[in-house]
Amino acid sequence: MKSQTTRRKFLIILASAIGWFLTPVRAQINQYNEPKRGGRRKDADEYVLPPELLEFSLLSLVLGRVTDRSVTVSTLAKEPMEGFFEYGNASGQYGYKTGIIKLPAGSPVEQVFNSLQPNTGYFYRLHFRRTGESAFHARPECRCHTQRAGGSTFTFGIQGDSHPERPQMSDPALYARTLLNVAASNPDFYICMGDDFSVAPVRTVNAETIGECYTLQRPFLGLVAQSSPIFLINGNHEQASLFNYNQTDERHDVAVLAQNARNHYYPTPAPDGFYTGDKQPVNSIGLLKDYCAWTWGDALFVILDNYWQSPAQVDSGFHEEEGGGGGGAGKNGNGGYHDQGMNSGNPSPPVQPDEAGGQNKDHAGAGRKNRDWWGLTLGDAQYQWFKQTLEQSKAKYKFVFAHHVLGSGRGGIDECDLYEWGGRNKRGDWEFDQKRPGWELPIHQLMVKHGVTIFFQGHDHLFARQERDGIVYQEVPMPADPFYQTRNENRYQSGVKLPNSGHLRVTVSPEDVKVDYVRSFLPKDETAQQKTGDIAHSYTIKAKGSHV
Ligand SMILES: [Fe+2]
Repeated sequence: MKSQTTRRKFLIILASAIGWFLTPVRAQINQYNEPKRGGRRKDADEYVLPPELLEFSLLSLVLGRVTDRSVTVSTLAKEPMEGFFEYGNASGQYGYKTGIIKLPAGSPVEQVFNSLQPNTGYFYRLHFRRTGESAFHARPECRCHTQRAGGSTFTFGIQGDSHPERPQMSDPALYARTLLNVAASNPDFYICMGDDFSVAPVRTVNAETIGECYTLQRPFLGLVAQSSPIFLINGNHEQASLFNYNQTDERHDVAVLAQNARNHYYPTPAPDGFYTGDKQPVNSIGLLKDYCAWTWGDALFVILDNYWQSPAQVDSGFHEEEGGGGGGAGKNGNGGYHDQGMNSGNPSPPVQPDEAGGQNKDHAGAGRKNRDWWGLTLGDAQYQWFKQTLEQSKAKYKFVFAHHVLGSGRGGIDECDLYEWGGRNKRGDWEFDQKRPGWELPIHQLMVKHGVTIFFQGHDHLFARQERDGIVYQEVPMPADPFYQTRNENRYQSGVKLPNSGHLRVTVSPEDVKVDYVRSFLPKDETAQQKTGDIAHSYTIKAKGSHV
């Protein structure tokens, strides 16, 4: 029964994809115009799903907060509706049914499916009707899986920085294509590495304008998240940070509104009996839901937040000259941001002088050029929680996720010996004991001590796989870069570096962990040698840590 459902779902996705292919390319893709406003889209209306996927814009479902016994579904309707869910552990046979749920236009409604069995696949579907309609329409069946038992084999997916506000590195048709491809493989969950909800285009700060940065992604992420619970990580471009929160001007509002929008539109986990994380409530927000950890099968998952625990500004400020990297923390840092691809063989994108489209320079220069890199921190509370989480976990594999080493700079292992991540200043002097009293070890050494399998990061906009002291440092590629660039390649002095676009599919089994880089291409760019679904690179890590 389960395999029939899987096949049926795949056929539905395939049919959507085929219909999409048949649409004239010109109708699908209109993003190759010159970027507007210094590299930003004029408004969110330019970043929409292809017409064949319109239903996901009218009604999106996003799963989250999955546990061993429950999962939360967030429903967002574009026009007033009402509906009910059926769910059960066999395809097409639903033993449970909710009551009628009101679905107001533009306001997400969360429904918890309770009393589920651990380590079990579930199937559900929404029946809905618009105001004035008498009959309900049934959406296609979706699925999810509760926490896997130890010894299980499962997959999860990861995407890097989707950056929908940047036409020079994010195409909505390609993004949808990546996400459909993810959905076809039925991952247990999907992790977004940050810079998915940039507030850079916001000119007037209020709940509506900041909220639009989050609603823009709902139809896209819903393609995956209707069946694969989602986990979000703050990037620098979300501007949801302690530094902003502590200001007395509009930056405070940006931090509050961004984090509230994130937690309003997406069912993000808070500490409970299943997840651990940040228990400290914050005025105007409540629980931040910034860092968290959980166990799934034989693996521990830890999401770190680079921005909510650092009193110092970590990366670019709101409407500062943006670029997300600055000169880097290390001696190779050049004081500027040169996000030019090194990949040849593809048409060149419009060259952007960084992201200097911001009109408000009031906050410029607040920190990046002369900053004290020791000021950038995960904070005592998050560090001690992270240390305890690693110490107490008996998981065979440990995966750690953060937007970037230190939350800023460029590179993977190139920066992992620096500051609180590695204990040394850029001259190589050991300053850790003096700068981080009460911390047992720097982050990298702590991860080595506790056998972290892979550290995943985003921010640098390429695929890069490196290794240091038995830990893989894995930079996650962009999902929607239509220029297929290997951005910031020169900031990685070693490792396997590959161009965008695509996502990572990680298969966890009792024997090993397998990471596949699954490529995505626009139909016009597909050839016999490159097509969506190609595995550009693959590696396996044996359970005991030896690489194959
Ligand atoms: Fe970033």
